[in-house]
Amino acid sequence: MAFVALCALVGGLALVKAERARGAGRIDRAALGGAARAQNAPGHVPGLAEHVESVTRSTKFRAITFCNKSYWTFAHALLESMKAVAPSIVDFWTVIVPDEATKEFIEKETAGAGHKIDVYVDDDLRKQVAKFAEASKEELKSMLSWRRVHAVQTLVDNDYTVMFLEPDAVMQKNPLQLIHDQLTTNDLVLGADYGLGTTARKHANTKVIVAKPSVQGKKLLNVWQRAEQTYSGDKAEVGFLLNDVIPHIDALTAKIQILDQTVVGNYLTHHEKAGQAIVTGMGCDNVDFKINFMAQLLRHVQPDDPNAPKSAIDYEGVSAGCDYAGREKVFKISNEFAKKKMAAKLGSNKATSSDE
Ligand SMILES: *[C@@H]1O[C@H](CO)[C@@H](O)[C@H](O)[C@H]1NC(C)=O
Repeated sequence: MAFVALCALVGGLALVKAERARGAGRIDRAALGGAARAQNAPGHVPGLAEHVESVTRSTKFRAITFCNKSYWTFAHALLESMKAVAPSIVDFWTVIVPDEATKEFIEKETAGAGHKIDVYVDDDLRKQVAKFAEASKEELKSMLSWRRVHAVQTLVDNDYTVMFLEPDAVMQKNPLQLIHDQLTTNDLVLGADYGLGTTARKHANTKVIVAKPSVQGKKLLNVWQRAEQTYSGDKAEVGFLLNDVIPHIDALTAKIQILDQTVVGNYLTHHEKAGQAIVTGMGCDNVDFKINFMAQLLRHVQPDDPNAPKSAIDYEGVSAGCDYAGREKVFKISNEFAKKKMAAKLGSNKATSSDE
């Protein structure tokens, strides 16, 4: 009951904002020749559930990653890291690509290593994109970004537990136990840009999404994917999440957990000793420097090679293409948070000992 009310509230908020912004948008569009805003059709990604059913042998668990040819370098590093620390996930991983040529390319790249990867061609995406021939690059990017929510919903509605991963991610530890534990109490689990404890909520992102096929999880994902039709703020599906979902997190009957920087890291928050389960390329906008950073991470999870000893991760060495200043800022905030916590702890210890 409460959830339905909240859904209505969340949907309502989005609608109010959309009405406000859409009016202006429509006039602009009309002046330009009147194409509609580029967006996915509401609902499931056609064919995806059938495909995943056809490759599922046992547990209804599926990891998914959208990938194009130019990002295969990243997805390949993700694959190699899975092989090193979480090999059981490889058989549950589906890479979603935009065309047959990319599928062939990835299959050829992975077949040699004795592990053919499951690849799904999202034919419907091409049809959707074709409808919006006049869309700007930004609009198409936003549409692609939203598509992950549709894909997750598609599989959750078919009773799969789903882990969405962006291609630029590396696993440092097997995350399955963590996911299992998180999903016993939560319906949706996400990572964050940075932040410790509940602070991470304000910085939630969608580079890693884990969802379970509970009634509440299904309802929440339905609200989220439908919001694409009306949400007109920035940052696509992340924007809607941050503006219209997270602020109500404590009142929602669907339970959402935002994993903080100690669990899911990135260039801003990575620390060799922190032992984050998954690290993403967030914080490195330049593709070449991102590749460099991810390759360093990968080397660290792979077995020791006497001919190529592991050196410490060189964060400063990639600063020309990554946000080194942001990284320093995040570390300063984290340290201050830790000091404050420590001081509070010491203070309360003193208080209890003097009480005695
Ligand atoms: C490939 O995918 C990445 C990540 O999703 C995206 O940022 C990039 O723009 C895509 N490149 C092309 C050529 O579509």
